[in-house]
Amino acid sequence: MSSALRVREVTVAEPRAGVFELALRVRDPLSAPILLTAPQIARDWDIPLGVDEHGGAVAGSCRNVSGVVVGGVPGGGKSAWLAFALGSLAHREDVQWLLIDGKQGYDLDGLAARAYRYVSGDEAGDLEVVRDSLQDIQTLMRERLRNAPELYGHANLWSAGPSRLHPVVVVVIDECQAYLDARSHPTKDAKAVGAEIDSLVRDLVKRGRSAGIVVVLSTQRPTADSIPTSTRDNCALRVCFSVRTREAATSVLGEFSTESEISPIGAPTGVGVSSIDGEQIRFRSPFVPDNMLRQHIQALRGLVANPLELLADALMESVRRDAESGADSCSLDIQCSDASRRMPAREPGLERGDSAS
Ligand SMILES: Nc1ncnc2c1ncn2[C@@H]1O[C@H](COP(=O)(O)OP(=O)(O)OP(=O)(O)O)[C@@H](O)[C@H]1O
Ligand SMILES: [Mg+2]
Repeated sequence: MSSALRVREVTVAEPRAGVFELALRVRDPLSAPILLTAPQIARDWDIPLGVDEHGGAVAGSCRNVSGVVVGGVPGGGKSAWLAFALGSLAHREDVQWLLIDGKQGYDLDGLAARAYRYVSGDEAGDLEVVRDSLQDIQTLMRERLRNAPELYGHANLWSAGPSRLHPVVVVVIDECQAYLDARSHPTKDAKAVGAEIDSLVRDLVKRGRSAGIVVVLSTQRPTADSIPTSTRDNCALRVCFSVRTREAATSVLGEFSTESEISPIGAPTGVGVSSIDGEQIRFRSPFVPDNMLRQHIQALRGLVANPLELLADALMESVRRDAESGADSCSLDIQCSDASRRMPAREPGLERGDSAS
């Protein structure tokens, strides 16, 4: 029918019994790169993905989500999409992010000015630095889970509504196979720290959701070693750019059939398949020119705050309030791994390992 009508493609749907709807597609919205002329701003908590095959906008919500997995061949468009997606949240004062670049390069440089911690270059090759930055997030998660009712009045931070004081924390680990795949570690000592990083990531994905922590794992080597299957299964948003094999697509998307027309195998740069709550959609991600992204992010750098410091302030405030009212106070035991930063306010005389109750 498409050649008779001289269009690229005709689709037929039956929206109501006996009513047939013909859609004549004259061009493929995914065929050519889309260059943005201004950074996109997320609506609510919907992270934009790009446009679908009908030219409509596609987005995946990160509200109440444990994590996001992103996979695809080198040059497939993963880091560019991460920059576009995080950039869309940069204006929110209730979002903070930690960036870790497993490639030890500068792919996420454009986002750095808005990160409370950016681990890149040689530092990203130091497994202990990476472990410590994730331990900070685990501390934040534990303290939030333990003190949630006193801090924000709900067990789940998403129910309370993230705020400047209690922001959503997005933890991005680009090229996560550098840490999570045991084969990346040449020595016994490195393997031991790698195993610690692996268990931290698993714990954050498993328990972090209600504490407002969203883990984003991206890899050019999508296998069950780089993204553990159980971790992937906990991530409601999955994004797969071009891959070579069905196995690689499955490692990112979960269920995947080669018979499906919606396939990321051999896709052009910037084109991928996303799985949002189990539904798969083919999309093209727009490209944000680097200087535009940098400008946008630089202008928002005033919103950066270390979430551990914010938590310490909130706990101090809670302790002070409870002391005034004579109620039992919440506990206070926080230490930030980054000694160059201002340490969180602490109760006088409290040493690390002690806890006040
Ligand atoms: N959505 C897009 N539209 C057009 N071009 C793109 C898009 N995404 C990426 N590119 C181009 O492809 C290049 C590689 O993209 P990117 O760095 O995102 O790949 P990657 O998947 O992160 O690769 P690696 O695994 O090597 O880090 C970019 O520098 C850019 O020139
Ligand atoms: Mg990259």
